Amino acid sequence: MRQGYWLLLAMATCAVAGPLAPTALRCEYLVNPVGIDVANPRLYWFPGHTERGARQTAYQVLVGTTPDAATADQWDTGKVASISPVHIAYGGKALESGRTYYWKVRYWDQADQPSPYSQAATFETGLLAVSDWKAQWIKGGNVLRKEFTLAAAPVRARAYVAGIGYDELRLNGGKVGDHVLDPAYTQFDKRVLYVTYDITGQLRAGPNAVGLMLGEGWYHARAGLLQLEIDLPGGRHVRIATDTSWKAADGPIAADSIYNGETYDATREQKGWDSPGFDDKPWNAAALEAVGHGLLSAQMMPPIRVVADLPARRMTNPRPGVFVFDMGQNFSGWTRLRVKGPAGTRVEIRHAELLYEDGTLNVENLRTAKATDIYILRGDPEGETWEPHFTYHGFRYVELTGYPGTPRLDSVTGREVHTDVRPAGAFAASKPLLNQLQQNIVWGVKSNLHSIPTDCDQRDERMGWMADAHLAAETAMLNFDMAAFYTNFLRAIHDDQDDNGAVPDTVPRGRMRPPADPAWGSAYPLIVKYMWEQYGDRRIVEQHFEGIRRWADFLKTLADEDGIVSFVKYGDWVPMERTPGDLVSTAYYYLSLDTVARMAEVLGKAPEAAQYRALADSVAAGFQKRFYHADSHLYANGTETANTLPLAFGITPATERTAVRTNITNDITYYKNMHLGTGILGTKYLLPLLSQEGRPDLAYDLATQTTYPSWGYMIEKGATTLWELWQDVEGPSMNSHNHAMFGSVGAWFYTSLAGIHIDPKYPGYEHILIQPEMVRDLHYASASIDTVRGRVASAWERALGHTRLEVTIPPGSTAEIRVPSFGNPELTVEESGHVVWKARTFVAGTPGVTGGRRAGEEALIEVGAGTYVFEVRE
Ligand code: BGC
Repeated sequence: MRQGYWLLLAMATCAVAGPLAPTALRCEYLVNPVGIDVANPRLYWFPGHTERGARQTAYQVLVGTTPDAATADQWDTGKVASISPVHIAYGGKALESGRTYYWKVRYWDQADQPSPYSQAATFETGLLAVSDWKAQWIKGGNVLRKEFTLAAAPVRARAYVAGIGYDELRLNGGKVGDHVLDPAYTQFDKRVLYVTYDITGQLRAGPNAVGLMLGEGWYHARAGLLQLEIDLPGGRHVRIATDTSWKAADGPIAADSIYNGETYDATREQKGWDSPGFDDKPWNAAALEAVGHGLLSAQMMPPIRVVADLPARRMTNPRPGVFVFDMGQNFSGWTRLRVKGPAGTRVEIRHAELLYEDGTLNVENLRTAKATDIYILRGDPEGETWEPHFTYHGFRYVELTGYPGTPRLDSVTGREVHTDVRPAGAFAASKPLLNQLQQNIVWGVKSNLHSIPTDCDQRDERMGWMADAHLAAETAMLNFDMAAFYTNFLRAIHDDQDDNGAVPDTVPRGRMRPPADPAWGSAYPLIVKYMWEQYGDRRIVEQHFEGIRRWADFLKTLADEDGIVSFVKYGDWVPMERTPGDLVSTAYYYLSLDTVARMAEVLGKAPEAAQYRALADSVAAGFQKRFYHADSHLYANGTETANTLPLAFGITPATERTAVRTNITNDITYYKNMHLGTGILGTKYLLPLLSQEGRPDLAYDLATQTTYPSWGYMIEKGATTLWELWQDVEGPSMNSHNHAMFGSVGAWFYTSLAGIHIDPKYPGYEHILIQPEMVRDLHYASASIDTVRGRVASAWERALGHTRLEVTIPPGSTAEIRVPSFGNPELTVEESGHVVWKARTFVAGTPGVTGGRRAGEEALIEVGAGTYVFEVRE
């Protein structure tokens, strides 16, 4: 079918001036990455042409070691016939450690016209072999330092650093780079991630000093590993590496803990400690850290950064000496303090999501997390500005006590901190509640990206709970560029898988012991599948196929002869109505098998595909036998989740689907008066299922509901993020006010309301299905997604019998657009003034529009790359 597209596209497209150079060059999803450790990194670009039907037909990549890449001394692909500008695996000379490689690309368009070459981009290798590491793990204090002299200013210098729990690298009096809370959280005995910095500009001829500040982080101890590789003019090389010649001391950070906060005593600052010429004789020699650490790997994902500043909106003074600031938004990060006062003054900064009626902080739901930073002033007459280094909080409200005098509104600034994933999606609609919910979802998702997807960002938890991870993953991928982030997370899952195939409930496992609840551990196959669908990442599928298959095989050991898995820890968590745990676990067992079978098909592993499909079918049969009531068409106790999971996962036989669906819609309509009964698992599938089953109106009613339980209820109660519970609870129990898992509904905004669907047969938005749902009182919806191939957008507007649908498809992709007929099959559809559909048939001749067919009363119009404006008059 796609062959046909190309022929028609070629006919429909007229060549204009030559194609533009490619843009947006990426390597392993990252822009000019420094410090990667894959042998065959993959390259990506956007072909620069924008005309309708545009596509690449061939490319040429050059990789060289000189800045214009033109030498191509590493790799010259020659002209390769390919429509794909994504996942092009490097196939040149073996890459060496610590080198910068330059690359550029050109392509040939649909008329076989070559584009100019792109600007050169870079990727740089880290330390590829274990033997490249000469540094030793050292400890002895929370600051470490070393001085050294260089005979000349370097021509090139790199720092490779892995300080655990957290590190901050300092050189000649300044911080290196803009990362915070590095390195990423891993199971440290399995793998530690190092970060590479270009420090060429921060070194100089003569004396230099390097310092490392260390925080406890998730390691709950402190150790540092650092290696500087410095090239001087004339081929001379200097290496500085952590060893026992380093000096160690305790600096001004008197205490630091992710949950409790940081205490910083500025009177204990040692001025100049990270600059040359400092007297470190009183310091101790650093000691070797005896504990072995796991593999060292490059940290290949966006770092955690301070991504924005949030000004305080309001200050109150609920008690003498107690000042409370409302930042107007619940978020993850910390507070920057501005203060002037006598040395030794101790200012306490507490954080909370909630207030009591009297305006003081309610910290009950933080459980044991103190979320308190303490700053002890050095007494600078000019005033002092401070922010913590090795902690973070989830909060909306900030309380200052001990402040000298009366603070001003700008005495505090909110610093938004999380993994700095690039925003990639936007959604808006004519319903203000949906726009607010979209905002809450985005805040909920990003607050919970801290090198791993966390459950919450505020209380004494913040772990990589696996169900929370897979429930929010699609929403996250539609709103942010998550490819590198989940690539890292999947490796962490793989690292944490036991020999018997079991995975833990949280990754890293920390103190959790496998096996996970089946619905939690299914994060492993599900996130692999989402990486395939959203990014078309076949390498991920290859790397993890054995792992996900072993997980499915492990579940099999838990199943009885009918395939029923009774092992359950949480089931459909935090629901309105309880669903039997064995039903939920067995449904996820089925889903894991189904996913393994699908991924086997992707890899062309026919025997495995057949094996897991057969097993999935037998589990479905056992599921029907155990849980389905053929008379009432209900599953088990008939909850929304009990009926939704088998229908959404494909367990329900075709003959029963309508009856089960009717039970669900009746339950929502007549028994629940348009409310949800689901917990976190059922919620993810319920709205997309209703849309798929032809009841987007009901899904919309649930999404826009404002009475309890609903998302709108949270918003009516003032939520700026998503709660952990449908209930409005603010006591000492489990009730985070910033959990991402109910954000699963965010994916439905993009797929159903704006109508942008991936086609699993051509993943990564190579072929796109556009099917907007124009429901109820909604009169416009729009979404865009910056996909791995470029921007996909869909926006519709409907008024007075006139519908306008604007769609953008990136170069090289094709789409099928369902243009609604509103019950009148005789409608005429125009595209930018050309008739493309009339009297139930496709009208050829519009550039980029390659075909059309009927689906019931509606027109399915096929297009290639470009922006199209369809208009339908009723
Ligand atoms: C977390 C959840 C998690 C659950 C496991 C909670 O404490 O916050 O989101 O999935 O434990 O049931």
